[in-house]
Amino acid sequence: MSFDRKIKIAPSILSADFANFGAECEAIEAQGADWVHVDVMDGHFVPNITFGPTTCAAIRKHIQGVMDVHLMIAPVDPYIDAFAAAGADVITAHLEAGPHIHRTLQAIRASGAKAGLALNPGTPASAAEPLLDMVDLICVMTVNPGFGGQKFIHSQIDKVKSLRAMIGDRPVHIEIDGGVDPTTAPLVARAGADVLVAGSAVFKGGSAAAPDAYGVNIRAIREAAEGVYA
Ligand code: DX5
Ligand code: ZN
Repeated sequence: MSFDRKIKIAPSILSADFANFGAECEAIEAQGADWVHVDVMDGHFVPNITFGPTTCAAIRKHIQGVMDVHLMIAPVDPYIDAFAAAGADVITAHLEAGPHIHRTLQAIRASGAKAGLALNPGTPASAAEPLLDMVDLICVMTVNPGFGGQKFIHSQIDKVKSLRAMIGDRPVHIEIDGGVDPTTAPLVARAGADVLVAGSAVFKGGSAAAPDAYGVNIRAIREAAEGVYA
């Protein structure tokens, strides 16, 4: 996984057909997805349950590029090695998931995966400051985690700008998760984000059997985000 700040679109399979993950992952990659974003929820840290490392290992075989695993679970540490063994390229843990995020990030890097730090909307940018040299990605939640299809929280844009300034020239991605569509993508791209997660805005109107809509949706988000540099 090489580092750059080009816009990367990471469809969240939370909005895919759960009975058809393999074909869905292949379809979004064929339609231009850069990364595949995989949302793991435990019904404890967030009020929803999705799946665990066994499912991640199964879908890994259908992903050629980056598998970006977003853990919305607490505790995190007992499961890191299982997600790394499942083939996660990036493992992102929430700062709010426990009292020892520093140790968690160390453990993620020790597992061989890139380390991501996710911040809930109520957590300030400054909370990430002591951790900047131990992360490869900061995920700014622009909705409260747990569900797809929620409304983008605009107050997070200033947080993205603060993080971008704080990161400086460190090779740390800024990822945006929640409510990304062609309207909100330019706002976060301008603020300094490079990885745009999108669930409902990518999967709407398509299916693995009729994937052209995925391509149209991905291109619309990418062009809107890249337009801010034009
Ligand atoms: C929310 C998840 C997101 C979600 C985004 O808890 O982490 O990845 O799938 O979905 P949309 O793009 O529909 O807001
Ligand atoms: Zn996510």
